[in-house]
Amino acid sequence: MKITVVGAGAVGASCAEYIAIKNFASEVVILDIKEGFAEGKAMDLMQTSSLNNFDTKIIGTTNDYLKTADSNICIITSGIPRKPGMTREELIGINAGIVREVSSNLIKYSPDTIIIVVSNPMDTMTYLAYKTLDIPKNKIIGMGGALDSARFKYRLAEALNAPISDVDGMVIGGHSDKGMVPLISKATRNSVRVSNFLSEERLNQVKEDTKVGGATLTKLLGTSAWYAPGAAVSALVHSIACNHNKIFPCSVLLEGEYGLHDLCIGVPVTLGKNGIEKIIELDLNSQDLAHLKESAKGVKKTNSILNL
Ligand code: 2OP
Repeated sequence: MKITVVGAGAVGASCAEYIAIKNFASEVVILDIKEGFAEGKAMDLMQTSSLNNFDTKIIGTTNDYLKTADSNICIITSGIPRKPGMTREELIGINAGIVREVSSNLIKYSPDTIIIVVSNPMDTMTYLAYKTLDIPKNKIIGMGGALDSARFKYRLAEALNAPISDVDGMVIGGHSDKGMVPLISKATRNSVRVSNFLSEERLNQVKEDTKVGGATLTKLLGTSAWYAPGAAVSALVHSIACNHNKIFPCSVLLEGEYGLHDLCIGVPVTLGKNGIEKIIELDLNSQDLAHLKESAKGVKKTNSILNL
């Protein structure tokens, strides 16, 4: 299993690190345009291998796509991250050009690859990659919901004062501060609905804290987060690489599911050796469905900037 990570910034390097540490891939290639940067990150990570007990070979390259040839999975993290006060949507101008170029280069050398898009605004960048590349829709996956759900579980565990392994919950919809739909109605602590333990007011707070999860970190860090995004990507890659068929909310092309068409947005899917194996249609209550539709409107509005 060969995996390419484009972008050796904090998110890309975290993806590579978490993938390598899980020890299921034979090779991880990190590619970056900045001279020597990916090579340096790869060497530094390789020097952790005897300490962290992994045999995955990590190599770095300065923009040589030949080194990425025959990758099974390619992850696009390149582009500019947001600064405090910025929305993910504001990154569209620069990142669209980068995602278009990177995805075309990747597919030239790995025509059968599965692509995971992380660059923001992620749902629009996933749709852009789908429109740019002539590859089946099961092979284009946007990473956002897995991260947002991890942040949701973190906030739920905090509110419940419970161990996080006791908590289950999912965020669907667009990967944006306004577009996220944390499914409070389906969240549980050990199979018991969280509304049994928490007031409506506290649950609303959990919901709002989840939606601004990325913005909160951007404010604290001065740039966007990387550990949880990297871990979320590695979880998706692991399920695909080992054909685990785990369920994650991912941004995928919808063609009528949830009454939505012609956009990529976060819904639960199973991930296996073919990428998206199945889109799962949840039985949503009217409020959550209305929020999802509203979120889809926002994603389509951002897509419209690119005239795709
Ligand atoms: C975040 O929410 C990187 O969009 C990503 O942190």
